[in-house]
Amino acid sequence: MLTPVLTDNWDAERSWTLEAYEARDGYGALKKALGMTQDAVIEAVKDSGLRGRGGAGFPTGMKWGFIPQDNPNPKYLVVNADESEPGTCKDVPLMMASPHTLVEGVIISSYAIRANKAFIYVRGEVLHVVRRLQRAVQEAYLAGHLGKDIHGSGYDLDLVVHAGAGAYICGEETALLDSLEGRRGQPRLRPPFPAVAGLYASPTVINNVESIASVPSIIANGASWFSSMGTEKSKGYGIFSLSGHVTRPGQYEAPLGITLRQLIDLAGGMRECHELKFWTPGGSSTPLLTAEHLDVPLDFEGVGAAGSMLGTRALQLFDETTCVVRATLRWTEFYKHESCGKCTPCREGTWWLVQTLAALEKGQGRESDLDLLLDQCDNIMGRSFCALADGAVSPIMSSIKYFRDEYVAHLTQGGCPFDATASTLFATAGANA
Ligand SMILES: Cc1cc2nc3c(=O)[nH]c(=O)nc-3n(C[C@H](O)[C@H](O)[C@H](O)COP(=O)(O)O)c2cc1C
Ligand code: SF4
Repeated sequence: MLTPVLTDNWDAERSWTLEAYEARDGYGALKKALGMTQDAVIEAVKDSGLRGRGGAGFPTGMKWGFIPQDNPNPKYLVVNADESEPGTCKDVPLMMASPHTLVEGVIISSYAIRANKAFIYVRGEVLHVVRRLQRAVQEAYLAGHLGKDIHGSGYDLDLVVHAGAGAYICGEETALLDSLEGRRGQPRLRPPFPAVAGLYASPTVINNVESIASVPSIIANGASWFSSMGTEKSKGYGIFSLSGHVTRPGQYEAPLGITLRQLIDLAGGMRECHELKFWTPGGSSTPLLTAEHLDVPLDFEGVGAAGSMLGTRALQLFDETTCVVRATLRWTEFYKHESCGKCTPCREGTWWLVQTLAALEKGQGRESDLDLLLDQCDNIMGRSFCALADGAVSPIMSSIKYFRDEYVAHLTQGGCPFDATASTLFATAGANA
């Protein structure tokens, strides 16, 4: 059921070194790609059906095809390694365990789009990842995988590892470009899209770490090998990150279309004597689902049909001991803090969401405040400049949809019912002691 490709070498001795990577035929795909034409590499990625692994699922080969090759400006590849969404935790372990998979992917992808300069924009807080990438890039230069005339092909590429300054919005691709250019990271108005005018107003491809890291295996094994996995419209495999109340949290690489029930089985079940209450399919910006969605195929279409989004496959699992109102409040506080302030609905709206939710969580207010909260969401959703704000309202709208009674219980009990349960438990434990 598992398909370890990206994660295959993670348990190798010092898996992050060039030596360990090359011992498993690492950089073999690069040599193969350099023997192909650039267009043939793009075609292979198109034929594989690879869709972006950063959340939106845009076809990767098609994105590369948008780069106008007649534009005289330099072309750039930028890897989005900002990974800051609550729950999302696949790119960091990938870069720690096997940075060369990403570096090899960067070289092949840059070659395909005819870029001579590439950047990996890494979340600044993960200094250990920055160091590991820098070392891998240094090793790749020394081995002739990067630099001038790579392996006698006549192709030159320089790769820069750039550390961000710790803002979630810098994962949004155009804010990332502004940040990389040295400005304050805020989303840009589109069009023009980055493919036409991206970094330094030049044609730019921006892809997620996992998307680019998937390229070497596609070139090495062929497009049909990749597309034989997954479902009709969501091809291949992906890393599913299980966190929360599950017995063995971690990274599970499996074909798209696997279900949460199967993944929980692989992870040893929910923690003992507890059951699933709610979960996020792709990080905190994707609407919550519940135990009734255990058999939804985890591909772009299946999760969409269930009313949510596959996102980054960050499966955060919560059991019946979790207060959904409190969890939602925590996420909303995050979005309020991370709003870049560029547009009013998000800057002001996320502040109001926190006020309303915090009161509800304390059991203050009336049931009509739930409708007020939904109205606030309605005034933010689809009316803001970028998708951060849509993500901010997702947990609120979905938690009210599935757990309205729990919100009401906060009001009727004058506080969080889970606090009451906890204090009863503690009181009982104290009396028994
Ligand atoms: C607020 C916000 C944060 C984002 N953070 C990330 C991120 O950390 N990593 C990422 O790959 N994409 C992130 N994205 C999505 C990117 O804008 C973009 O769609 C993605 O990097 C494209 O890569 P892909 O086609 O390979 O998926 C974010 C989007 C938004 C709106
Ligand atoms: S939606 Fe929020 S994060 Fe996006 S531009 Fe507007 S204020 Fe900034």
